[in-house]
Amino acid sequence: MNTFECREYRVWDRVVRVFHWLNLLTVLCLAAIGLALLNGKALGLSADGKLLLKTLHVWIGYAFAANLLMRLVWACGESPHAGWRDLLPAGPVFWARLVRYLQALRRRASRPYLGHNPAGRLMVTLLLALLLGQGFTGLVLAGTDIYYPPLGGWIAHWVAAPGVDPAQLVPGDRTLVDAVAYADMRRFREPFITAHEIGFYLLMLAAALHVAGVAMAELREGGGLVSAMITGRKRISGPPEDAPDTKR
Ligand code: HEM
Repeated sequence: MNTFECREYRVWDRVVRVFHWLNLLTVLCLAAIGLALLNGKALGLSADGKLLLKTLHVWIGYAFAANLLMRLVWACGESPHAGWRDLLPAGPVFWARLVRYLQALRRRASRPYLGHNPAGRLMVTLLLALLLGQGFTGLVLAGTDIYYPPLGGWIAHWVAAPGVDPAQLVPGDRTLVDAVAYADMRRFREPFITAHEIGFYLLMLAAALHVAGVAMAELREGGGLVSAMITGRKRISGPPEDAPDTKR
C-alpha cells in the first residue's frame, strides 16, 4: 500500500505553458505547409499557389520565432524549473542523476520530478536546439525566397539588376534580377534550405520521441505531465526527486 501523501505542486509558470502550446500549434502548421511545399509537384501546386503557401509559412514562422525568442529570454530569469540551470544537461550532479534515473527506469522504479527529469532535460535541450536551427534557417530563407525581413532588403539589393529598384522585385520573377548575382544568391541559399529540410525531419523525429517519453514517464511515475502543462500543477505521491532542498 502506498503510504505517501499525494501533494500538488505548482511547477510550470504561465509563460512556459503559453510557449509550449503556441509552439506546438505553430510547429504543426509550419510542418504541414512545409510538407506541402516539399511535395508541391505531386500535389499539382501552381507557382502562385506555392508562393502563397511560402508567404503563409513565413508569417506563421514569425509567430513561431517570436514565441521561441520569448522562451529563450524567459530562461534567463529566475522562474522555478524554467531557467537554463533547470533545462541544460549540465551542473555538478546532472550526469550522475541521469545514470541513476535510467537505471531506475530499467527497474521500473523511477520517481517523478517536479521539473524535467534528467532524460527530459536532454530531450528539451535537443528540441530547443532544433527549433532554434529551424527558426534561423527559416528567417534566412524568408529573405532569399520572398525578400521578406530580416534579410529580404539586403538580398533584394544584392540581386536587383542595375537601375532596378530592389523594392520592385517579385519573388520567382527573374526579369528584374541580375542573372549572375541571382545565381550567386541561390548558391548562398543552398546550405540553408538543406539544413532547413534536414532540421524538419530531425525535429519530427525528436517530437515523436518527446511524446513517447512523456507517455512513458506518465505511465511509470504519474504526476499528470500533460495536464501539468495546462494547469501548471503536478500531483505527486511522496517526495519528488528534485525537491527544492536537493542538489541539481
Ligand atoms: C519548426 C519550424 C519549421 C518547420 C518544421 C519548417 C518546415 C519547412 C519545410 C518542410 C519546408 C520545405 C522545404 C523544401 O521545400 O525543401 C520549409 C520551407 C520554407 N520555410 Fe520553413 N519550417 C519552419 C520554420 C520556418 C520559419 C521560422 C521560417 C521563416 C520565418 C520558415 C521559412 C521557410 C521558407 C521561406 C521556405 C521555402 C523554401 C522553399 O521551399 O523554397 N520556416 N519549411
